[in-house]
Amino acid sequence: MDVKNKKWWHEAIGYQIYPKSFQDTNNDGIGDIPGMIEHLDDLKDLGITVIWISPINLSPMVDHGYDISDYLQIDPSFGTNEEFELLIQEAEKRGIKVLMDLVINHTSTQHEWFKRAMEDLDGEYAKYYVIQEGRDDQPPNNWRSMFGGSAWEKIAGTNKYYLHLFTVEQPDLNWENPALRQELYKIVEFWLEKGLAGFRVDAISHIKKIYDEENLPSDGPDGLVTVWENYRDAKGIGEFLGELRDMAFSKQDILTIAEMDVVDPERWEEYFGDNGYFSSIFDFYHTAYTIQDKTFDNDSEKFVEFLKPLVYKKQELANDRVFFTNFVENHDLPRALNRFIPKEEIGYHSASVLGMFYFFMRGIPVIYQGQEIGMVDYPKDTIDEYIDLATHNNYQDYLLKGLTEKEALTQINIENRENSRTPMQWNDQPNAGFTEGTPWFAVNPNYPEINYQQQKDDPKSLLNFYKKMIQLRKNPEYKDLFVYGKSIPDFVEAAGVIAYQRKSADQMISALCNLTNQAVVVEYDAEFEILLNNYTELKQAAGLMTLQPYQGVILEEKSLDNGK
Ligand code: GLC
Ligand code: CA
Repeated sequence: MDVKNKKWWHEAIGYQIYPKSFQDTNNDGIGDIPGMIEHLDDLKDLGITVIWISPINLSPMVDHGYDISDYLQIDPSFGTNEEFELLIQEAEKRGIKVLMDLVINHTSTQHEWFKRAMEDLDGEYAKYYVIQEGRDDQPPNNWRSMFGGSAWEKIAGTNKYYLHLFTVEQPDLNWENPALRQELYKIVEFWLEKGLAGFRVDAISHIKKIYDEENLPSDGPDGLVTVWENYRDAKGIGEFLGELRDMAFSKQDILTIAEMDVVDPERWEEYFGDNGYFSSIFDFYHTAYTIQDKTFDNDSEKFVEFLKPLVYKKQELANDRVFFTNFVENHDLPRALNRFIPKEEIGYHSASVLGMFYFFMRGIPVIYQGQEIGMVDYPKDTIDEYIDLATHNNYQDYLLKGLTEKEALTQINIENRENSRTPMQWNDQPNAGFTEGTPWFAVNPNYPEINYQQQKDDPKSLLNFYKKMIQLRKNPEYKDLFVYGKSIPDFVEAAGVIAYQRKSADQMISALCNLTNQAVVVEYDAEFEILLNNYTELKQAAGLMTLQPYQGVILEEKSLDNGK
């Protein structure tokens, strides 16, 4: 990547809003756009410059908005189109840009296109969806939906089936149809005209399907099979992604972040280099793992040592080439604290060092709502307390695999994505100040201890630490280094520590993050200045530095030729 090609979004500090759970203002228990507007000052105060809002378009909410029934309307539970435009303007006043979630792999079954398709299977709209003839009263093939069960749904009164890689209510769009693609580009244009700064592009790796005419050998007790190569980054997808860029995205100077892994580093430029399909990607190299897994057994050193090569490899390969979007949480994952830190050790130091570990790497840092105050998972006593369909499907899968109900629930409590969807904890008032009505999803009862208001007033809080991290990243003296400097692994041998340098021709900082509950001693004899420290002191003597349990420091090295 050539630094000559600077883009506004290279220096973005992102924040994801899960609208249903952010702030309710009309007491229907559902977060809304006025609630977002209400908190823009808080986001500005934190230092956020870009917000990504999970879908707010018209939706029957089977998948909480990821099932869209009208792309051009804001769902009334969130507000009106006018209120959304007001949000964009109010955000702009505070130096914050707004990204929408662009869900164009599928629609809702309630979308007009789908309804028309079902009314006339030989008509134009039927070509908007992936519809195939069944075989001997069986689905066209035995593909499994990502949310469990067959990926095909029978169309009543016919022998035809439509494809849904996600829930039954989320029929996949047929990207092979140029007329459909044109419709999608119009949607992009519609929102860009309203002043939107770009999109997070949902499930986009799935738009290309390579249809299997036969059943494949099953890989589970359900007789179904997951064949990623046929519908995730499938061969030929580049044609669609390139057209999407050229016909829709490249018309304005926007930020597009694709939700997709690009596994082969040789293809990073093609996907998200200077002239890639997208500006950046959210990839999932780290999200499948949790310290609660039996393999890691709550041993942080084991967990960190496993993760470290993945982190380092990605960082080294990205230098001068591409900008990843760096994150530890989103609405599809349990809370990061529960995934990275043993439960009994979750606290200020572990939470702040977890932030430091990813925040200063090369790429766009994004915070998920609540992460900045250290929100944690809220395990349930019964499966019925969960709402998410995917969670229920996973639970059924566990039962099918032979787990008892208790075992299945334990597993679900650890890994389910609704953990991160509990309402935002604003203060110690009823329902954490999220709503005066009944919240759509239960508030974590720990809100009297963990909430925004209390942390805002406490200079030693996690919230204020996040603020300091952001201030440091934005500090004019270091900004270019953090944005464009190389990211180089450091102290690779120090077990449980993730450390890296950020380096340019004339500047260098070191980030050292001890992600364990043991003190770690490293050799460090360069001259430095402490730019950030989550402890009040840093022990150093005779060329040795001691990192306390969960201590993280950002150091500026004073002499570049220190022999390291
Ligand atoms: C993405 C979203 C997820 C949603 C799915 C289907 O993975 O992040 O929440 O369920 O797409 O749209
Ligand atoms: Ca509301």
